[in-house]
Amino acid sequence: MRTFLLLLACLVFAIVSVTGFRGTKTTRNPIEIFPDMVRQAKVKEQAPSFFFPNQRASRYPVLGTVPTGEDAARLPYLNTGMMGDRWGDGIPIPLTAGTLKKGQEGFGIFCSACHGSTGSGNGIVTQYGLVGVPNYHSEHTRQMPDGQMFYVITHGQGLMLGYGANLSVEERWAIVAYIRALQLSQNATLGDIPISERQQLGGR
Ligand code: HEC
Repeated sequence: MRTFLLLLACLVFAIVSVTGFRGTKTTRNPIEIFPDMVRQAKVKEQAPSFFFPNQRASRYPVLGTVPTGEDAARLPYLNTGMMGDRWGDGIPIPLTAGTLKKGQEGFGIFCSACHGSTGSGNGIVTQYGLVGVPNYHSEHTRQMPDGQMFYVITHGQGLMLGYGANLSVEERWAIVAYIRALQLSQNATLGDIPISERQQLGGR
């Protein structure tokens, strides 16, 4: 009799555990014997987080992050060179002597072999048969919007490869600024030179 009751209890338990409470809902979490990593500490967007000093869970991307795919299309002038559906103009990073220095450095490393140190399109590689390197002092390149120049550096054009993977957004804009300085150096008038500096040009 005892064995029978025990078996019956086991049977009832088994049936209830398999079929019982089906269709009923509960807001309580199920019992997890091995939770693995199903639930982890996290914060949701727009929610506060007391981990960061400004108590926001949403963070800006790390400086120098290169956007790809859909994100790239949504990003503003700084990352694309585009304003809406046309090229933008203007250098969207602080224009300082340091910026130009950085541009000069990047240009010397990545561009001068083809474009030449003054941007005349006569870099060392042209002596070995590369043709079609444009002269930055041509009307075409002088008229090219800054945004388009940024785009060419990022993605390349014709025989020229893109440098988006080698140069950060800031470095690319610094090079655009440096190319503008090179262009100015070949087309400047006395009026472009600050009066205090003109003395050095022979006292004129
Ligand atoms: C391997 C040689 C090579 C290197 C290195 C190179 N370029 Fe070029 N670049 C070219 C050639 C060739 C063209 C012309 C492409 C075309 O339109 O067919 C060009 C075109 C351009 C243009 C467009 C000019 C115009 O009027 O259409 C810009 C701006 C430019 N390069 C900037 C740069 C910068 C900045 C760098 C360095 C980050 C660089 N290039 C590195 C070969 C090179």
